[in-house]
Amino acid sequence: MKTKITELFGIEHPIIQGGMHFVGFAELAAAVSNAGGLGIITGLTQGTPEKLETEIKKCQALTDKPFGVNLTFLPSLTPPDYPGLIEVIIKTGVKIVETAGRNPAVYMPAMKEAGIKIIHKCTSVRHSLKAQDIGCDAVSVDGFECGGHPGEDDIPNFILLPRAADELEIPFVASGGMADARSLVAAMALGAEGMNMGTRFIATQDAPVHDNVKQAIVNASELDTRLIMRSLTNTERVLNNPAVESLLAKEKALGDDLKFEDIVDEVAGVYPKVMINGEPEAGAWSCGMVAGLISDVPTVQELIDTIMAEADEIIKSRLQQAV
Ligand SMILES: Cc1cc2nc3c(=O)[nH]c(=O)nc-3n(C[C@H](O)[C@H](O)[C@H](O)COP(=O)(O)O)c2cc1C
Repeated sequence: MKTKITELFGIEHPIIQGGMHFVGFAELAAAVSNAGGLGIITGLTQGTPEKLETEIKKCQALTDKPFGVNLTFLPSLTPPDYPGLIEVIIKTGVKIVETAGRNPAVYMPAMKEAGIKIIHKCTSVRHSLKAQDIGCDAVSVDGFECGGHPGEDDIPNFILLPRAADELEIPFVASGGMADARSLVAAMALGAEGMNMGTRFIATQDAPVHDNVKQAIVNASELDTRLIMRSLTNTERVLNNPAVESLLAKEKALGDDLKFEDIVDEVAGVYPKVMINGEPEAGAWSCGMVAGLISDVPTVQELIDTIMAEADEIIKSRLQQAV
């Protein structure tokens, strides 16, 4: 399949694996890129430029296809060494960066000068237009369904994607709630040039996370995610569990007086415990509503091959017959 996104990134299929904390390691990124999609290493999981360099080199040893690095810009009193991380990305020759969170404008000149293509993840049309204005090459439009941070507007992809299509000139992929060929074809019908998946890629054999996490996603239905940290204007969609229930009880009791310190036990330092130690109930971790569409743990190659074969069938057979 050829779209503006496959052309932009030099990939075979318009399928991107979004950056995921403690999931987006070299093994997963390489598996996605080797299967013809675009794999992405999560920069902040590595934390330091030295560790990111090692992870990028590991990925380069596992694939000769294009892959990217995610840089999530968070508000922080002690920010990560973003200039150092970018220096390593440039030095190692990575040509694609997925940015997310705050506006990456200050870091754009260095990356553009190095010939890096930037795809910014946005949860609204206005942020997508801003990304276009500051020179991003593409955007990943993340609807309300998504795992992780859906923003505060609560607009699902059936509205958000055609709104983005009406306003944007740069290409965009649909993100949030994407799982299979139906998602891809629908996203393209709504104006996207491909799709970005997070949760679906966790439940694959290549994701270097504990089996308990994959099983938790397979067992979950579309009713099993919750929104947390709404009153902190830092909304996150997570998989429900007893720790999340206790966090939500605190949010209810404290209302607008809630401070981050009140929920630190349920949200800080959770990812290594969940993803590496295999304790999915250790706290709150991002998961999309799309868990309701996930019932197996294929290899990344099987997943992408199936999506592309079934997309072909939907377009050439089912949709063709309807007209
Ligand atoms: C466990 C997990 C961790 C994530 N971590 C990050 C992250 O560190 N940075 C980021 O930009 N997005 C992160 N995301 C969001 C994904 O990149 C992607 O946008 C999102 O999962 C899409 O929604 P879906 O899960 O419905 O496919 C994370 C998502 C999940 C499920």
